[in-house]
Amino acid sequence: MLKIVVCVSGGGTNLQAIMDAIDSGKITNTQIIAVISNNPGVKALERAEKYGVPGICMSPKSYPDRAAFNEAFTQKMVELAPDLVVLAGFLVKIPEQMVAKFSGRIVNIHPALIPSFCGVGYYGLKVHEKALERGVKVTGATVHFVNEGMDEGPIIAQKPVMVEDGDTPEILQRRVMEQAEWIILPQAIDDVANGRLEIVDGHVRKKA
Ligand code: GAR
Repeated sequence: MLKIVVCVSGGGTNLQAIMDAIDSGKITNTQIIAVISNNPGVKALERAEKYGVPGICMSPKSYPDRAAFNEAFTQKMVELAPDLVVLAGFLVKIPEQMVAKFSGRIVNIHPALIPSFCGVGYYGLKVHEKALERGVKVTGATVHFVNEGMDEGPIIAQKPVMVEDGDTPEILQRRVMEQAEWIILPQAIDDVANGRLEIVDGHVRKKA
């Protein structure tokens, strides 16, 4: 059984997609052992409570500085000891010490086709604002392993989504969630849980 901790910052629709996929059997061999939010009072924590998993709030604002937060956050993750950390709309940079301790065991969902519209400053709605500003006709979502860089780890899965005339950032965000994020993130977790992924020469391959 793959024990996962899901990290969230806001609405938690990706968290919901994971919980629903576990309930419907689309994700197997997987148990959510905790949800961590960096923001208090968010809908994602309500979803965790309703689902019956512990919701933990760890805000960087409650610590004297970022180094202290990074240390406490990493320590909490070590205590929870998940097999996989899932960043499902988590808008805080993962501390280097956590990446080192959980190497190859952290996955992130990003709402664009990496390497487009990613890196510092590209998160949440901003990603879709930038995509519309640039006038792209296709965008999408990416699930990837997390390394020390920002949105730079090995790519697990991507799914394209068409941009349509008249899209606003909000409309595009919703379409990318519905047509890509809520599908490829649960699939990637199921692939990890069932040992279907391997990394060859720095690239993720699905085992035959
Ligand atoms: C999602 O679109 C997710 O891809 C994005 O934040 C949103 C969270 O929504 N993540 C990033 O931008 C990470 N760089 P949710 O809380 O409803 O799942």
